[in-house]
Amino acid sequence: MILVTGATGRVGFHLMEDLTDAGVQPTAMVRIDAQAGSLPTGSQHIVATLDDPPSADELRNFDRIFLLSPSREQQVELEIRFLDAVVAAGHRPHIVKLAADGFQDLDCDVRFMRNHRQVAVHLEATELPVTYLAANMYMENLLGAADTIRDEGLLPAPAGDGRIGFVATSDVAGVAAHVLTHDGHVDRTYVVTGPEALSYADVAGRISAVFARTVEYADVPPYQAKADLLASGVDPWVVDGTLELYEWVRNGAADTVTDEVPKATGEDARPLHDWLGELRGAFVGRPENAPPPSL
Ligand SMILES: NC(=O)c1ccc[n+]([C@@H]2O[C@H](COP(=O)([O-])OP(=O)(O)OC[C@H]3O[C@@H](n4cnc5c(N)ncnc54)[C@H](OP(=O)(O)O)[C@@H]3O)[C@@H](O)[C@H]2O)c1
Repeated sequence: MILVTGATGRVGFHLMEDLTDAGVQPTAMVRIDAQAGSLPTGSQHIVATLDDPPSADELRNFDRIFLLSPSREQQVELEIRFLDAVVAAGHRPHIVKLAADGFQDLDCDVRFMRNHRQVAVHLEATELPVTYLAANMYMENLLGAADTIRDEGLLPAPAGDGRIGFVATSDVAGVAAHVLTHDGHVDRTYVVTGPEALSYADVAGRISAVFARTVEYADVPPYQAKADLLASGVDPWVVDGTLELYEWVRNGAADTVTDEVPKATGEDARPLHDWLGELRGAFVGRPENAPPPSL
């Protein structure tokens, strides 16, 4: 049986759908019972958290576990606490851990990647069978700029000319679903990316083409990006991590493109224009009766 943590999140929701479509009945781990309503129809679930893990009896039901937690300061502590409960339950499920590309590179000092590296060191010590999915940046991150794109025709980011192998979360889930349902993936790390490496100027060009309106990239100085993120209420630890991440992008380290998505799913990785087309409402639509942007 397969346990999916982070099942209500971006990757986890798609993964629940993919596994169900593949005829496997996965179990979602949700934090409160009411969240079961936001899982794909017909999903089964248990109520637990990474910091308050399922009982040993419950954990022993699962021979494969998808491990995902949010990028935040407590991430290492959360995942280690959960993994220690798995080990204490006395069995050896295959752990498929979602990480971020760069975690496997000791020179990458971005805190989000460093967190995943610390969990990996702990995982290696447990000697549990493990597969790492090291994803490049999600296309879904672009939704954070949707208002500015729609209202001002600008795509702001402190990314310089750095290129990124943006990947759709549905493709990350597709690779995870394959690994969770096939043998032969233990001790492997898969770098999961989209089909091409794009600069933010390229992304602005794709948005302009797909929505037939002019959108320009605004290369924001890091100090300005930091002030904007803090002013919008983002947690200061995440703000500093985001600045580190974009420095890494500006240095050209995020331009990796692999063929792991087509190899795992049998289908091409989703191109950005296709993903944008599906999210048209977020980027160009305005809800009916919405106040004007200046209010
Ligand atoms: N953003 C990127 O570009 C990118 C790129 C590569 C890798 N990643 C990695 O992707 C991961 C995030 O994936 P995502 O975007 O799919 O996540 P997400 O949408 O932010 O969802 C986070 C999930 O974790 C759950 N969660 C939060 N706290 C929890 C706790 N204490 N115990 C159990 N579950 C908890 C949330 O549940 P609730 O619904 O209850 O809150 C939700 O299901 C991070 O590890 C990040 O490093 C991100």
